[in-house]
Amino acid sequence: MVKIAPSILSADFCNLERDINRVSGADWLHVDVMDGAFVPNITIGVPVVESIRKHTGMFLDVHLMIDKPARYIDAFCKAGADLLSVHLEADHPTRIADALHAMEANGVKKAAALRPITSAKAVLPYLETLDMVLVMTVEPGFGGQKFMEGQLDTIREVRALIDRYHPACELEVDGGIAPGTAERVIEAGATVLVAGSAVYGADDPARAIEVLRGRP
Ligand code: DX5
Ligand code: ZN
Repeated sequence: MVKIAPSILSADFCNLERDINRVSGADWLHVDVMDGAFVPNITIGVPVVESIRKHTGMFLDVHLMIDKPARYIDAFCKAGADLLSVHLEADHPTRIADALHAMEANGVKKAAALRPITSAKAVLPYLETLDMVLVMTVEPGFGGQKFMEGQLDTIREVRALIDRYHPACELEVDGGIAPGTAERVIEAGATVLVAGSAVYGADDPARAIEVLRGRP
């Protein structure tokens, strides 16, 4: 069954513990790290991940939207991440490979993330070593954006590559996921759905999670 990963980007950062507890029925917790360089926004960093780790046993799915992520892999692993995603556009391929090796050495799950401009086959050099591929369905940087319909093709293409080369690999989709889009990305082959505004913008986040799972 599909996993739901609420994004705390849409939570109240002054009441983060309360807002994390509100989504404890979800499968993973999605943490968006932005550096103001790879994306035009700055969010949270290593100390916040460390604090979150102390307060929850949830699986921490940390999405690094930062330039040259290899510099920070050890720090985020030590802070308590369970999985790290690095963007393939964020550094030269050899340094992306270094970042993935550092995750492996720390015993943390490894994912490669694709901006909408990046084609599905960019994952091929890494695919057999990955635990997950993350396909963005908005331009990374902000919550609450409109789902990019054209990315359904990228999701299908990544699904075909995963089925062919590494069927155990998860396929996460991030951006504009709501009841209307969830069903279509699942159909296209997603196994993990990130949702920020659709969960935290709902009156009842726990129920919103069930609706996204397809159990209204
Ligand atoms: C955007 C982030 C997303 C964001 C999704 O760059 O990577 O995880 O929180 O927010 P929604 O679900 O509101 O599109
Ligand atoms: Zn994200």
